[in-house]
Amino acid sequence: MTSGGLFIVIEGIDGTGKSTQVQRLGEWFISQGREVVLSREPTDGPWGKKVRESAATGRLSPEEELEYFLNDRRQHVTELIAPSLAAGKVVILDRYYFSTMAYQGTRGFDPMEIRRKNEAFAPVPDLLLIMDLDVDSALKRIGTRGDTANEFEKRENLQRCREIFLSLQNEAFVRVINTMGTPEEVAEHVRDVIGTRWI
Ligand code: TYD
Repeated sequence: MTSGGLFIVIEGIDGTGKSTQVQRLGEWFISQGREVVLSREPTDGPWGKKVRESAATGRLSPEEELEYFLNDRRQHVTELIAPSLAAGKVVILDRYYFSTMAYQGTRGFDPMEIRRKNEAFAPVPDLLLIMDLDVDSALKRIGTRGDTANEFEKRENLQRCREIFLSLQNEAFVRVINTMGTPEEVAEHVRDVIGTRWI
């Protein structure tokens, strides 16, 4: 941990309720008297904006896309993550480089190579929470049935992303959270995990 700061990352495939849990966990740390910074990737900075726009227009090559995510993250680390941790704050992120391993891994890059590139400049979090849900339930939550060609591809990709996230589950800083329950039940589970080691 950096100077009393605490760095928590919440990851998982689309539809697992990450942003709700980031919000709730932030509120909980504030109720404990901590200073909290909530953020997300892609960010609202120039590189993050470009990558979000490309999701609609589909114009980036896989190489460009990977490069944009890395540029976005470099800026995020320098401008927000590192200074906040150095100031002793609790930093909670909705997605980080584990999403690059999963999503760009699904698009043909080696997840371990992506990890190596990121860990050359991006601090490893104190705790990684993987919000886990089977792909059928996740697709239902995001309002997709998975039965058109496009949706079928999405299903296959999410399945692969889930596998890449779960491949991290045995590492010491990683906990998998089952998200089948209500948002409140999931939040309780998250707080139980935090209480066992991270406060
Ligand atoms: P998401 O958190 O779903 O944002 P929004 O709520 O605005 O849709 O992230 C957008 C997409 O970006 C999501 O499908 C995952 C993808 N992504 C990557 O492909 N690589 C990355 O490194 C990150 C951080 C996200």
